Amino acid sequence: MGKKVTLGLIGLGGRGIGLLKTVFLHHEDVEFAVVCDVYEDRCQEAAELIEKSGRPRPQTTLDYKDILKMEHVDAVILCTSWENHLNLAIEFMEAGKYVGCEVGGAYTVQECWKIVEAYERTRVPVMLLENCVYGRDEMMVYHMSEMGVLGTIVHCEGGYKHDLRDEVAFGRENRHYRLDNYIHRNTENYPTHELGPIAKVLHINRGNRMLTLTAMASRAAGMKEYIKNNKADDEVLMNTEFRQGDVVNTIITCANGETILLTLDTTLPRYYSRGFTVQGTKGMYFEDNQSLFIDGEEHAKDHFEWKKHWGNVEEYREKYEHPVWKKYMAEGIKEGHGGMDWLVFCDFVESVQNQSEAPIDVYDLAAWMSISALAEQSIALGGQPVAIPDFTNGMWLRRK
Ligand SMILES: NC(=O)c1ccc[n+]([C@@H]2O[C@H](COP(=O)([O-])OP(=O)(O)OC[C@H]3O[C@@H](n4cnc5c(N)ncnc54)[C@H](O)[C@@H]3O)[C@@H](O)[C@H]2O)c1
Repeated sequence: MGKKVTLGLIGLGGRGIGLLKTVFLHHEDVEFAVVCDVYEDRCQEAAELIEKSGRPRPQTTLDYKDILKMEHVDAVILCTSWENHLNLAIEFMEAGKYVGCEVGGAYTVQECWKIVEAYERTRVPVMLLENCVYGRDEMMVYHMSEMGVLGTIVHCEGGYKHDLRDEVAFGRENRHYRLDNYIHRNTENYPTHELGPIAKVLHINRGNRMLTLTAMASRAAGMKEYIKNNKADDEVLMNTEFRQGDVVNTIITCANGETILLTLDTTLPRYYSRGFTVQGTKGMYFEDNQSLFIDGEEHAKDHFEWKKHWGNVEEYREKYEHPVWKKYMAEGIKEGHGGMDWLVFCDFVESVQNQSEAPIDVYDLAAWMSISALAEQSIALGGQPVAIPDFTNGMWLRRK
């Protein structure tokens, strides 16, 4: 057991409550002093969960500003809707509270700069709680890439390929923020699950940086058809036009010459995938069939008959499993999204305990989240390239 950390939890929808149940309440070093949501029923549900776990019942509040003044709160976790992440994070950093911020995309580049400036002014860290960076295969492939097994990395792909038609269509009933975004915006609205692990492989902000992007969106037909077939009694939605294209492709170029393809695919029938793909001069990894193709190995003779090697990543676990996952598997704890929620939370708690820099820091957060604002511009301009700011102001050249 380490030093106790006193937390405030803000945003008690699906994610906030889900994390409490599967992760937060299993960690010995944390206490929740306060929970907050604009909805009273959600505050009460969270407080009850915490109390039932044998911990003291936390305070509840509908106004996050109350927490700014609570001196005993060391850090806050923001599980709010996308449009509230960065302004809340900045206010808490100004109040001296370490921030753990759930994922999402930014709406403007200015807000990304503002959070970087808030950090540089206050030196209070913010950690983007990007759990997918801690995925088992993502970490193994990162480890292999660091060992040089895949050679010089040339191209990476990733996606958020998740059928969210019901979540979007029932947004009003479920008091969920996604619906309004899908009606009014057209962009790569959820870039960090896929970009996070890729940015680690490519050392973005640490010797490399993202330079430009170009984004294009397909037509928006999925939601309209889904609503016609599943919610025809909803007169308002039946007459609503959705701006969000069903499939959005964004190509990013990097200072060291690599390209990254991100695909958002959330309003058509499909299986779930983050499509994580890493290609180098010596081999590649492909998430959809969990396979590794390594030049010179016996399996590489079968490049035309690849199906029989699907799933061969298991053959490489022993040799290339990331040490973090080796330890985690040995300890036998498995919580939240197959373990990655637990691992990202443990890193957050440790950083708060040590008051150390966040492993996914403000520069990562700004660069990764800015992709949504920039892709929106590029799509609106017919796919024109737009520049990705250097939020490190040149420090990427030397940062480790
Ligand atoms: N990392 C992951 O795997 C993962 C999974 C699901 C969701 N998420 C992220 O978690 C966040 C929340 O998602 P969700 O599905 O729970 O959404 P949700 O809409 O169900 O919950 C968001 C909650 O935040 C509250 N909220 C918004 N503004 C607030 C404010 N100013 N003060 C207090 N409360 C406020 C809302 O009332 C709502 O209850 C999003 O950023 C989402 O992208 C991450």
